[in-house]
Amino acid sequence: MKLLIINGPNLNMLGLREPKIYGDRNYAALCEFIKNAADEAGATCEIYQSNHEGAIVDKIQAAYGNFDGIVINPAAYTHTSVAIADALCAVAIPTVEVHISNVMEREPFRHHSYVAPVAKKTYMGLGFDGYKKAIRHLTHGEE
Ligand code: DQA
Repeated sequence: MKLLIINGPNLNMLGLREPKIYGDRNYAALCEFIKNAADEAGATCEIYQSNHEGAIVDKIQAAYGNFDGIVINPAAYTHTSVAIADALCAVAIPTVEVHISNVMEREPFRHHSYVAPVAKKTYMGLGFDGYKKAIRHLTHGEE
């Protein structure tokens, strides 16, 4: 199974960025964690990060016919981007949404996700483990 992992804006700042919320491990550590989780699940993965909404839309469109599953942490675009939700709907690749923090316990503007209705499942508040859960959900149907 070929998985595309997409990380949205500011996730490249992990480690530096609000460590009380996101932890002190950096983005390279997250990529390593994701690669290991994909290996263990018997999947291959490409990891993509962008701070730009249109670039993320382009990446999702280009995934059509090339990937069997998408794991996406749209970061701030979760709460604003109809375009990313529409792109996921258009390609209809099984998608799992991940958030490192529990957005439901944070500011009210983070409570709404445009991506959730087009995702099979959402994991939040599990730190890096949310990505592993998302990968295992797509590869093995685990909850
Ligand atoms: C986030 C939560 C979002 O509200 C925030 O804008 C992010 C990261 C998370 O992983 O917890 O950038 O998606």
